[in-house]
Amino acid sequence: MKVAVLGAAGGIGQALSLLLKTQLPAGSELALYDVAPVVPGVAVDLSHIPTDVKVAGFGKDDLAQALTGCDIVLIPAGVPRKPGMDRSDLFNINAGIVRNLVEAIADNAPEACIGIITNPVNTTVAIAAEALKAKGVYNKNKLFGVTTLDVIRAETFVAELKGLSATNVHVPVIGGHSGTTILPLLSQVKGVELTDEEVASLTTRIQNAGTEVVEAKAGGGSATLSMGQAAARFCLSLVAAMKGDNVVEYTYVETNSDDAEFFSHPVRLGPNGVEEILPYGELSAFEQNAKDAMLEGLRGDIKLGQDFVNN
Ligand code: 2OP
Repeated sequence: MKVAVLGAAGGIGQALSLLLKTQLPAGSELALYDVAPVVPGVAVDLSHIPTDVKVAGFGKDDLAQALTGCDIVLIPAGVPRKPGMDRSDLFNINAGIVRNLVEAIADNAPEACIGIITNPVNTTVAIAAEALKAKGVYNKNKLFGVTTLDVIRAETFVAELKGLSATNVHVPVIGGHSGTTILPLLSQVKGVELTDEEVASLTTRIQNAGTEVVEAKAGGGSATLSMGQAAARFCLSLVAAMKGDNVVEYTYVETNSDDAEFFSHPVRLGPNGVEEILPYGELSAFEQNAKDAMLEGLRGDIKLGQDFVNN
């Protein structure tokens, strides 16, 4: 298994790379790419951790080499939010970064599964899809927006509120990865009773959790450690699925459903990426209203990405 992290020297990239160095199966290769000159040092640093995962660093002229032979490519590259910014404020800088990286993936690792972490995810996944289509190598089963952070946040907050162990709480989160497009399905959490007030306040907290971190870091960026953990969980699930395990994760994929062209669903992963997009089940009236209210915005986010590549 060869996994590349593009943007490996950044806050998310370093946390993610550390987790992959310690948790990828023995015999795996980890390729760390970044335009920041510190990336060979990050690779040397990680290489001193005694696991059977081989790490190599690749600088700005070595992207092709980093990508060649990859099974999975994760993209956290780009700039993070500062207080007062919405994820969509990152579009101007991050859209071009994602397009360029995805074009290189198309040229050097067209069969790889791609996990997009760079914000605004609602839009950058659509950019990636269009860039891959333009290169003639788009496979909708191999492109994912990583929304796992919304799931782990939801599980943490519900567990905290109810005094439970977070490892035993499972919360489905559908939709996108920004503000009200993040839709936790609290009505489906097993073994937990929530009042209407608790559902409303938990939903708002989960939707604003990224902003909670941005404000707490006071200009120092957005979530890096929890995002690294979320992306590592997603990547390790994909690795397990590629090896034949039965794994379901919530992730933002092309569904072409009545909701939107891309939408986070429970997805059964397999050796070729998406094995099956599963239904997200029945919604409560609160969730149905929240979904109806956010769809237009999500569709607009997606169209922005498509237009960026095509116009
Ligand atoms: C977040 O939700 C960084 O988008 C990431 O905090």
